[in-house]
Amino acid sequence: MAVGVFDSGLGGLTVHQAIAARMPDLPLVYLGDNAHAPYGVRTADDIYRLTCAAVERLWDEGCDLVILACNTASAAALRRMQETWLPEGKRVLGVFVPLIEALTERQWGDNSPPREVAVKHVALFATPATVASRAFQRELAFRAIGVDVEAQPCGGVVDAIEDGDEILAEALVKSHVEALKRRMPLPQAAILGCTHYPLMARAFQAALGPEVRVFSQADLVAASLEDYLQRRPGFTGAGTRSRYLTTGDPGRVASKATQFLRRPIEFEPA
Ligand code: DGL
Repeated sequence: MAVGVFDSGLGGLTVHQAIAARMPDLPLVYLGDNAHAPYGVRTADDIYRLTCAAVERLWDEGCDLVILACNTASAAALRRMQETWLPEGKRVLGVFVPLIEALTERQWGDNSPPREVAVKHVALFATPATVASRAFQRELAFRAIGVDVEAQPCGGVVDAIEDGDEILAEALVKSHVEALKRRMPLPQAAILGCTHYPLMARAFQAALGPEVRVFSQADLVAASLEDYLQRRPGFTGAGTRSRYLTTGDPGRVASKATQFLRRPIEFEPA
């Protein structure tokens, strides 16, 4: 049994880490498409094509269920994959819905009509492709009414993280938060809508101030995956080995991953 975890690069490791902490006996195969990152500046067609190829690679590893631990892929490709491409017996899940359910204080799978919720002003930080897709607002509208969302495309942050340049990433986070606050001075909640951003969570919280509740996805996605597998244990797949795969240079990717997660990680070529 193994579950696949996909991201365009290093960011999905934040989700992988949370899943591994919650379900230590579940083999996980991570695939980072570092050769093609960042996805956040690509077209929706391009993101769809790359994401399908990566998910197929994870099926070859014995994963029947793949988590798109990438908001950009979840926003730009997931719906199309589920509607037109997914073969019988395979599942692909994204990272938006668990986050929105937490924000709107819904139980998993609560499909009741949208209703008023406590939070009214939400700041969304995400890649340009995720912001352009408006997938977050669409999914939110299915569940909540009267929520004002201000979205900030955070150009450059993913590149800085993938390049291992934490100082640049921090400076960019500060300037993106300032830009958003000019349009929404008092957000109640902030969504880190890119799996790379939890690596910069402290910088986001510092720039936003202590009164803003910052939601990041890793733990929410891990909890909802655990719930999903309890209800559908058949989707743990035939794979038995945990591995980290990359389409990029394994040595280089391993050293960046080790730097960011502050523990040694070995990558193999995908
Ligand atoms: N980490 C990804 C996300 O959650 C995408 C980053 C990128 O490749 O631009 O959106």
